[in-house]
Amino acid sequence: MKAVITSTAKYLPESILSNKDLEKILDTNDEWIRSRTGIGERRILKDPDKATSYLCTGVAQRILEKRGITADELDLIIVATMTPDMVFPSTACLVQKNIQAMNAWAFDLSGACSGFLYALNTGAQFIAAGTHKKVLVIGGEKMSSIMDYTDRTTSVLFGDGAAGVLLEPGQDEKHGLIDARLYSDGRGGDNLCMPAGGSLRPATHETIDAKLHYLQQDGPQVFKAAVVAMAEVAAEVMERNRLTSDDIDFLIPHQANNRIIQATAERMHLDQKKVAKNIEHYGNTSAATIPICLAELDEAGKLHTGSNLILVSFGAGYTWGSIYLKWQ
Ligand code: UT7
Repeated sequence: MKAVITSTAKYLPESILSNKDLEKILDTNDEWIRSRTGIGERRILKDPDKATSYLCTGVAQRILEKRGITADELDLIIVATMTPDMVFPSTACLVQKNIQAMNAWAFDLSGACSGFLYALNTGAQFIAAGTHKKVLVIGGEKMSSIMDYTDRTTSVLFGDGAAGVLLEPGQDEKHGLIDARLYSDGRGGDNLCMPAGGSLRPATHETIDAKLHYLQQDGPQVFKAAVVAMAEVAAEVMERNRLTSDDIDFLIPHQANNRIIQATAERMHLDQKKVAKNIEHYGNTSAATIPICLAELDEAGKLHTGSNLILVSFGAGYTWGSIYLKWQ
C-alpha cells in the first residue's frame, strides 16, 4: 500500500523581518543577502510565550479542517524539528494535546533541514505496513530562538514557520510516495550545530557567555557539501525511476540558498519554471521549507493527479535525501 498526501497546510507567523530591518542591527545589506542567498525577508514568531508547537498546532488544525476529519481519527503524529519547545516532552506530544488527538501516538524526529523528508518517509512506512491509516507529518521550527542576532553570517539566513501533510493509504500502487533515497554523514556534524544545551554541555553561565546555545555554521563548508549532495541525490532518484526532466512537474528543494537550488535544477536539466521557490519571503525555515513549498503549490491548484514531484534536501548532520512523489 503506497502512502498518498491527502491534505497540506502551512502556518507562518505574521511578523516580517526584512533585510532592511537587519541592516539596522547588523553590518550587512540587502544586496549582499539577496545576491548570496536569494532571501529578502523572513517571518518571526515574536511572542515569547509561543514556540514551535504553536506553529505546528496551527498546521494540524488547518489540515484536519481541509480534510474534513476530526483529531481522534489520527493514528500518528510526527513532528520534524530541531527547535522543539523543550528537549522533552516532544513537540509532537504537545501538538497531540492541543488538538486532542487522543487515539494517536506522537514523536519528534531530529533530522535538521532534512527532517521533513526523513519524517515523510518514516510516516509512509506505517501506511505501507498497513498498520496506520492517518499519519500527520509536520515540519516546524522557531529558528529565531537559536539565532545570534549579532552574527551576520547566520542570523540573516533563517526564519520561523511550519507546514505539513496528512498521509493516507492510496487507492493503487501507481500514486503516492514512490521512492526515497535518504543519507547521513556524521563527519560533517561540526560544520552546522548548536554546541550546548544537550547532555554534553548543559546550560551553564559559561556556555551562555560563550554563546554556545545558538546555531553555528561554517557556511562555505556546508555550501560545498550541499551543492554536490542535493544535485547528486536528485539525479539519482530521477535515474532510478527512469524520469527525464520532461517527466518532472515540480522540483521542491530545501530553501537554504538560491545558488544551491539553481545548481540542483541545472544538474537535473530542469527549467526554472518547474522549481518551487519561496526563499525570498521566508528564508531558511529548516524542516519547514519543503512542506511550505508543497502547501503553496497545492493552494495554488498546481498539483494534479499524476503530477511528478521530486523533493530534495540537505542539512545538519549531515543529512540529505530525495523523495519521488506521484500526486493523487
Ligand atoms: O539549511 C542547512 C544547510 N545550510 C546551507 O545550505 C547553507 C550553505 N551555505 C551558504 O548558503 C553560504 O555559504 C552562505 C550564504 C552562508 C554564505 O555565503 P558565501 O558566499 O559562502 O559567503 P562567505 O561565508 O564566504 O563570506 C563572504 C564574505 C565574507 O567577508 P570576507 O571575509 O570576504 O571579507 C563574510 O564575512 O561575506 C561576508 N559576509 C557578509 N557580508 C554582509 C558574511 N555574511 C554577511 C552578511 N552581510 N550577512
